[in-house]
Amino acid sequence: MPTYLIGIDVGTTGSKAVLLSADGDVKASVTNEYPMYTPHAAWAEQDPSDWWRATIASIRGVMEQAAAKPADIAGIGLTGQMHGLVALDAGGQVLRRCIMWNDQRTAAQCAAITRQVGFENLLRLTGNPVLPGFTAPKIVWVRENEPEVYARIASVLLPKDYIRYCLTGGFFSDVSDASGTSLFDVGQRNWSDDMLKALNIPRQWLPEVTESPVVSARVNGEAARLCGLLEGTPVVGGGGDNAAANVGVGVIREGIVSVSLGTSGVVFAASDTYRIEPNGKLHAFCHAVPGMWHLMGVMLSAAGSFRWYRDALGDAERAAAAASGRDVYDILTEGAGGVPAGCEGLLFLPYLTGERTPHPDPDARGVFFGLSLRHGKAHLTRAVLEGVSFGLRDSLELMKDLQLPINQVIALGGGARSPLWRQILADIFATGLVTVNVTEGAPFGAALLAGVGASVYPDVATACRTVVRVSGETSPGAAAAVYADYYPRYRSLYPTLAPEFKALASVVNKHASAG
Ligand code: XUL
Repeated sequence: MPTYLIGIDVGTTGSKAVLLSADGDVKASVTNEYPMYTPHAAWAEQDPSDWWRATIASIRGVMEQAAAKPADIAGIGLTGQMHGLVALDAGGQVLRRCIMWNDQRTAAQCAAITRQVGFENLLRLTGNPVLPGFTAPKIVWVRENEPEVYARIASVLLPKDYIRYCLTGGFFSDVSDASGTSLFDVGQRNWSDDMLKALNIPRQWLPEVTESPVVSARVNGEAARLCGLLEGTPVVGGGGDNAAANVGVGVIREGIVSVSLGTSGVVFAASDTYRIEPNGKLHAFCHAVPGMWHLMGVMLSAAGSFRWYRDALGDAERAAAAASGRDVYDILTEGAGGVPAGCEGLLFLPYLTGERTPHPDPDARGVFFGLSLRHGKAHLTRAVLEGVSFGLRDSLELMKDLQLPINQVIALGGGARSPLWRQILADIFATGLVTVNVTEGAPFGAALLAGVGASVYPDVATACRTVVRVSGETSPGAAAAVYADYYPRYRSLYPTLAPEFKALASVVNKHASAG
């Protein structure tokens, strides 16, 4: 009888299930999408019943694709979008749509919480500032704006934990996901009574928290019937999407860092000890590896900057791609490879949608700086790749400032498929990069956590050793010395322009409301 593991990712666009064998071979991968609602500008909501419907379909999908029998499934691991607020009444019914991680409605609540608790105290109690995406300010928003909903709340769950509730009937979270609520003492790996008291949020609303690879609950009869699983199948704590994704690629020891070039860019480091960035510029969360933490920097537009560039300025390349069947990004980067490092003095700031790390500034904007008559299309292309890489180095520098050793950098995400972009990253970071064989992301890591909980592997390190392989290496070259001279120029642009970004935003807003 084969031993299979299932990982489920309650993602931003859909629920993805992967089914793997114990040696890490992906036997099936199925995603079912769901809508996101934006009832007001900058609001983002989803219906938890859509997640559940999609998850049932994805579980059924992978079982069918792999021709797996219910008894083959040794365990299930959950991961998903972090920070979302799912509010349930005493009967376990969802009270309103989930307010998601990318919802920006709570700026006033964040400011009020920060005033009340104090910035230093917030860092001391939770390891992080309160950000609009986080969960606690959303609870406060509901109290202030939907008192009739607030009055009926009996429990609050994070997105993946709602799916656990559907699968098992149990109320549990895990330490990595709970870290993003602003209600969790990340250092102590438990809910913060001080924060709960300060915000007047009842402790009994919150689920029990376990470490990520620990079996928290088991599939119940109803869910077993709906999903085609065996009643009693163990479900482990699981992890927030970044923590789980990094388990999946082996970022489980201090000294290993990953850099992900997705729409947003994430620099993620595992840490043996609880470290916090003194100004709260890096997220300090529990890792999905028991007894470990992680630090994380998030750039809002990484490969997203390159996609914008393709859409805004890549008409000719798009046409060439359509005519030849080649990838449009390959065509775009072809020319950029011939441009010297530093683009002969052209710099790009990738703040197209504002920024999170290291400049938490919604008003920051993209910039091409240093244009001259020498600069053509290929320079612009390369400047975008370099600018994103400089911005990611900003997060790496914050980690180095905390004395975090950086011995290996793993490049992940769609952007890392470009050899040119990998070389630019290695040169700008002045460090070697590797790529790995795992490409399924967070649900793959969640499945490994399930394997630990189900005793398929003795621990997370063994799970990673069994399945993760280095697939390529990129070493820094001569351009590293050139970038060492350009990086300080890049770094000084944001502080110089910050007041202008703000002034520009107010002009834009004035005319937007006037028009
Ligand atoms: C992490 C974060 C995102 C979401 C959605 O802090 O905001 O990674 O979890 O992917």
